[in-house]
Amino acid sequence: MTTDSPDTRGSWGSKLAFIFAASGSAIGLGSIWRFPIMVGLNGGAVFVFAYILAVILIGFPLMLTELTIGRHTQKNPVGAFKTLKPGTPWKLVGYMGVITGVCILSYYSVIASWGVGYLYKTLIGAFQGEMTWTRSDQIFSSFTANPVQVLICFLVVIALTTFVISRGVKGGIERWSKILMPMLFILIIIMAIRALTLKGAGPGISFYLKPDFTKINPRLLFYAVGQAFFSLSLGMGTMITYGSYISKEENLSSSAGWVCFSTTLVALLSGIIIFPTLFATPGINPQEVQASTGLMFQVFPLIISKLPGGYVFGVLFFILLFVAALTSTISLLEVPTAFLIDEHKWRREKAATVIGAAAFILGIPSALSNGASPWLTKINLMMKMDLVFGNIMLAVGGLLITIFVAYVWGIPQALKEISHGTPRFKIKPLWIFSVKVLSPLAIIAILVFTIFFA
Ligand code: PFF
Repeated sequence: MTTDSPDTRGSWGSKLAFIFAASGSAIGLGSIWRFPIMVGLNGGAVFVFAYILAVILIGFPLMLTELTIGRHTQKNPVGAFKTLKPGTPWKLVGYMGVITGVCILSYYSVIASWGVGYLYKTLIGAFQGEMTWTRSDQIFSSFTANPVQVLICFLVVIALTTFVISRGVKGGIERWSKILMPMLFILIIIMAIRALTLKGAGPGISFYLKPDFTKINPRLLFYAVGQAFFSLSLGMGTMITYGSYISKEENLSSSAGWVCFSTTLVALLSGIIIFPTLFATPGINPQEVQASTGLMFQVFPLIISKLPGGYVFGVLFFILLFVAALTSTISLLEVPTAFLIDEHKWRREKAATVIGAAAFILGIPSALSNGASPWLTKINLMMKMDLVFGNIMLAVGGLLITIFVAYVWGIPQALKEISHGTPRFKIKPLWIFSVKVLSPLAIIAILVFTIFFA
């Protein structure tokens, strides 16, 4: 955003500025940490296939829909629904988004805080020398089981996110991320190439890229749609909020396309690093660990140690991973903050601090659920939070936003908004079909099947 002043609404400086900011929100731990876990949980390549379909057929159209609502109303999600259908319960969809945002922020920041811990560990040389699975696994488990370490790192992430949002210095971060995100991308490509050339990578590559379509089931589709929404920051109004800062000249459709494309690419590459490395590493049964919460943190050090200049590479990678996570936590905090500023006239600093503190308190149980507290670990609280807020709530939110545009606000209104900056809207038929028929039916069917039959 061009503005750094605390209370005013700003606008993105240029089309590229918007694409970078929205990609910054989208690309993060969802693609790098969460996507491989979902692949592991849902039988490999067939999930990758379902995810790509979900991005194209449901995710991309929904992103365009959210951006359209945002740009048209110039509001946060609650304000947007209030503007479009005043005096109706539709504003509850906005409220749902605000609550979902705080809840996702609470556990997402815990994962980001593991990145902070890993940066520190890399700096002090904890990954020097021969890396084996046993060693890597032990470093991960002893780190997450230490409540003091985890909570300190967690506090650092929340404090930094709150600081950025409360001072309105997001613009600075976005300028930096223009340089840092492409660097992250390059590092990921290097790691992917190294992983593909490992001895014994074959079975991992097949697991990841050779789909077995007999494994398809409603639960898998549910996770695929959930992952598409999570990784693209959809279903809770983030893209409504971001869209509210876009200018009328911008081509919403191509901007959305670029964000979807870059995010999917990063997710796919992350899997290319994880699975060949996992399957090529002696001493483990990949089936036993391929869906573990710490998968990325257990596997990445293995491949980094196999690269020339591993130490510098590792430090750089964890710095960049942290920046990627931060641009996402910022967007998660921006939604509730924009809501309190716009709708309740709070000062930006107060809004960001109160929500940041709430997310911290709410996140403490998640932070302790990976070894520090036996009971929270047993019920796997963090992944339960992720299931409820990262999958179910985003899917329900996405469904309601879609139904709203298709049947309440109306396709013609939305098309009129899209036409500013997009004179030739080439994929219009796909978008209309998705919003009116495919997305609502698919999401309802998937939710019903998963909740009642799985
Ligand atoms: N898309 C982010 C990621 O994949 O890391 C996470 C996220 C951010 C989800 C913002 C939802 C959201 F509204």
